[in-house]
Amino acid sequence: MPDDAIRCRGLHLELGGEAIYASLDFHVRDGEFLCILGPSGCGKSTALRLIGDLLKVDDGRVEVFGQPPGEAWPHLAYVFQSPRLVPWRDAVGNVVLGMQLRFGGMAKRDMEARARELLDLVGLGADLGKYPRALSGGERQRVAIARALSVEPRIVLMDEPFSALDLNTRRRMRSGIVSIWQRTGKTIVFVTHDVDEALVLADRILLFSGKPTRVLETIEIAEPRPRDLDTSPALRAHRERLHARFEMLESRQAVKLRTTHPRRGSEPCSEKP
Ligand SMILES: Nc1ncnc2c1ncn2[C@@H]1O[C@H](COP(=O)(O)OP(=O)(O)OP(=O)(O)O)[C@@H](O)[C@H]1O
Ligand SMILES: [Mg+2]
Repeated sequence: MPDDAIRCRGLHLELGGEAIYASLDFHVRDGEFLCILGPSGCGKSTALRLIGDLLKVDDGRVEVFGQPPGEAWPHLAYVFQSPRLVPWRDAVGNVVLGMQLRFGGMAKRDMEARARELLDLVGLGADLGKYPRALSGGERQRVAIARALSVEPRIVLMDEPFSALDLNTRRRMRSGIVSIWQRTGKTIVFVTHDVDEALVLADRILLFSGKPTRVLETIEIAEPRPRDLDTSPALRAHRERLHARFEMLESRQAVKLRTTHPRRGSEPCSEKP
């Protein structure tokens, strides 16, 4: 498709002697909010690392706006599970640091102005001068989102960015990221293993299988936003089906683990206190 932001075709990858992907294919449309959902260890983070040029495939092709990842990195920014802020810089300083690393020559005054604008966008307009130790977990993660947006990426890769937060903060962050996405028009690739999170956020969900991983199912979510899982029969039906598929994937994984490592998971812990 001409309007694809990312195309992954026939990906083959082995890590530690194990086939992670045998022939993985997927694409991400320009401007789309795509969620990648799948069991632990199936290769969700690895897919982001391949797109972000942090890892190379053994075979197959990754294209970002038609370019290999090594050339496309200026279009990309990452948000990780932990915010990775430097403790000696305040919120503005942390966002500026992202820009300094990407565009060394930009005037500091312009970087600070952009940082303030973006911190305002993520709802931290009143906390510009706070240091990470004075920010909550959710606020720190919002600084990390502002830092990612500050380098003006066309694509933001998010790897379980809210999984370390408490349930209420996570809910607020989800609606926050949807409104940021709607206001900025970025393409977002968001990895999660939380079915409800994917259903609330995504235009499209890719369900990854167990290894060697492929796309087991693609679900288009047409429900308008903001979404409420409790009141939408369509979302509840997706949730039930996805939970059932997840259980199946996880039980297969457990069987595989018992076959490969017969002592793991089937015996009580024998470690001495
Ligand atoms: N550097 C490495 N060397 C060997 N194996 C690796 C390496 N990096 C990842 N793996 C393996 O690749 C597989 C996929 O890892 P990945 O981190 O992508 O999983 P994930 O789907 O993101 O899991 P989770 O939901 O737990 O974060 C796992 O089995 C992991 O152990
Ligand atoms: Mg991961």
